Amino acid sequence: MASFPQVTVCKHSAIPHLLTPIRDVTTSSVQFAYYASRLMALLAEEAMAMLPAQQVSITTPTGATLPDAVRINTSKVCAVSIIRAGDSLLEAVRKIAPDVHVGKILIQRDESSADKHPVMYYHKFPLGIARMPVILCDPMLATGGSVIMAVNTLLDAGCRAESIIFANVIAAPEGIEAVSSAHPAVRIVTCVIDASLNDNKYIMPGLGDFGDRFYGTE
Ligand code: PRP
Ligand code: URA
Repeated sequence: MASFPQVTVCKHSAIPHLLTPIRDVTTSSVQFAYYASRLMALLAEEAMAMLPAQQVSITTPTGATLPDAVRINTSKVCAVSIIRAGDSLLEAVRKIAPDVHVGKILIQRDESSADKHPVMYYHKFPLGIARMPVILCDPMLATGGSVIMAVNTLLDAGCRAESIIFANVIAAPEGIEAVSSAHPAVRIVTCVIDASLNDNKYIMPGLGDFGDRFYGTE
């Protein structure tokens, strides 16, 4: 498999076990949301750990001092979802860091177009986003069209590409290549890199339409 230097693949040993039910076509929407949320909690922790950390000195209840403990100030971070499926991952981030700022971008693939080009409908960002590290949340990276449009919108708002971490559950190599060629400084963190896209630009083997399965709109 090709190696992608800007991609971090989460290595937690529970990940393969959580991917099985969400890939399985017989999994109900309720079970899909349950296992996907457990998986996204791990992904959110991994994305969080990629943020800039401060070195702090702390004392434990035993009286020992740790001069080089690390701490991330999540109140200065913005988590941005690509609506709709991205909201599920945004909520996983907010569960572990309730004080993050929140931004939203509504982008939908045009499923009637051959290249599934994305259409942008709306965005809203918090004041000061330009100075914040951003965790951009969307569980699926297929052609890369949606996330490239989302990154362009963040750059227009003054964000730095180096400050953006794109978190997703499954990435297709075609999408990784498209994002790295459009925005080489954006880092990507994923649970798994799948084989390819099919003719309909769905990830293979993939899991189908994440948003439909998570929200029960199949
Ligand atoms: C899905 C997914 C990504 C996009 C990925 O969203 O959540 O946003 O497709 O495909 P791409 O890399 O080819 O752009 P979709 O537009 O289906 O909307 P949804 O979140 O409402 O399901
Ligand atoms: N969006 C999804 O939800 N799944 C895919 O495989 C591609 C785009």
